[in-house]
Amino acid sequence: MNKYMQLFQGTAFTSKTPTEIQILKDYLFCINTDGMIEKIVAPEDSEYQTLLDIYQDKDNFHQLAEGQYFLPGFVDLHVHAPQWAQSGTALDIPLHDWLHTYTFPLESKFSNLDFAKRVYDDVVSTLLANGTTTALYFATVHKEASILLAEICASKGQRGLVGKVVMDDPEGNPEYYRDADTHTALVDTEEFIIAVKELAKSTKQGVYPVVTPRFIPSCTDDGLAGLGKLAAKYDTYVQSHCSESDWAHSYVQDRYDKNDAFALNDFGLLRDKSVMAHCNFLDDQDVDLFAETGTAIAHCPISNAYFANSVIPVAHFHSKGVDIGLGSDISGGFSPSLFDNIRQAVISSRMLEDGVNPSLPAQDRGVPNSRLTVDEAFYLATAGGGESLSLPIGRIQENYVWDVQIIDTQLSSAKLPIFDEKEDLHDIFQKIMYLVRPEHIREVWVQGEKVHTR
Ligand code: GUN
Ligand code: FE
Repeated sequence: MNKYMQLFQGTAFTSKTPTEIQILKDYLFCINTDGMIEKIVAPEDSEYQTLLDIYQDKDNFHQLAEGQYFLPGFVDLHVHAPQWAQSGTALDIPLHDWLHTYTFPLESKFSNLDFAKRVYDDVVSTLLANGTTTALYFATVHKEASILLAEICASKGQRGLVGKVVMDDPEGNPEYYRDADTHTALVDTEEFIIAVKELAKSTKQGVYPVVTPRFIPSCTDDGLAGLGKLAAKYDTYVQSHCSESDWAHSYVQDRYDKNDAFALNDFGLLRDKSVMAHCNFLDDQDVDLFAETGTAIAHCPISNAYFANSVIPVAHFHSKGVDIGLGSDISGGFSPSLFDNIRQAVISSRMLEDGVNPSLPAQDRGVPNSRLTVDEAFYLATAGGGESLSLPIGRIQENYVWDVQIIDTQLSSAKLPIFDEKEDLHDIFQKIMYLVRPEHIREVWVQGEKVHTR
């Protein structure tokens, strides 16, 4: 009997609940030909030794070395693939000026497919090397380059959800970078959806088209309404930016006399498959609408420190039943690593809870009950992302996909500070969360296939 495609042996960390980690010490993970975790076997199970006897000399048996651990692959819920070319720069001015000074000029260059290929090849490989196995991407307004990004995800083995960006309003966008007109924006989006659905037929790990109005200030009412219809017609994912900064939030209030959430909902853009980035300024009614419609939030903690004028009250939103995941928001967030974003999510939440203005009395300084633990931030980067997308990803659990990263804590050039052979595994988990760098990520697997080795 040799029915599994791969068998792995080792210790895994995965979320049991949004607040609690589960540690699977020395388990066996049995992966079927579809790349799903068909069975998880504990050392005390009677089958454990039988499976070891069958598989341990075979090529498809993988035993982790001392000091190595499995983590679920990360789900990055918000990445601007073209902006990778300016990551780490251009963080000195507010959102509106940043878009017009740096970002729209850069994105306009993706009409050139050679340039697009260079950047997109590199960003997909870099995200995989940072443990991101699923990514929800904004491309640019260009249909061909957006299809190219989906093809690159498909061929490199990453689960890519890709949107051709719509910016059809001549008022809100520069002449050199926008859709020719509303009709063209909608036709291009529909052709893009059809092309990516065709590509998906031959892509094991999945690739998905995403209806992507950049944000309300970039789009006409007719454009937004047409996109809502396309999302319903093809049952696609939807993504946009929602109530991100003082300027973006008040622009929508001025235009519609309501918040982004209700305006987007009027156009059919809040759906179970919708993921809205940032959402810092949602009020309680907006949050309830998100929960009712199944819309998820992509929390982008590094980017928010530069552009959102605030720290999002994630703990409060979570308590109201909304799905939340983490986004790098490259390049508003400079880092391609969700480890870095986990760290920032914890740090920012602590600053929100305590407050930051030392001239105020302690009791007036912060927002109580705002802190996130590192276990909670890990949940957002993994299982929370999976739930936001309604896909069986982000957990090491039976009937979930085998999307994992293998972390080596004993790399000779960058050992983590673990000095006790019997150190508590939850402490090791926390050291991994805070201290891992890309060189510790030795292998990355997506849908049962190895897609990165180091
Ligand atoms: N709002 C509209 N476009 C963008 C973008 O590219 N990045 C961020 N952070 N916010 C936006
Ligand atoms: Fe963004």
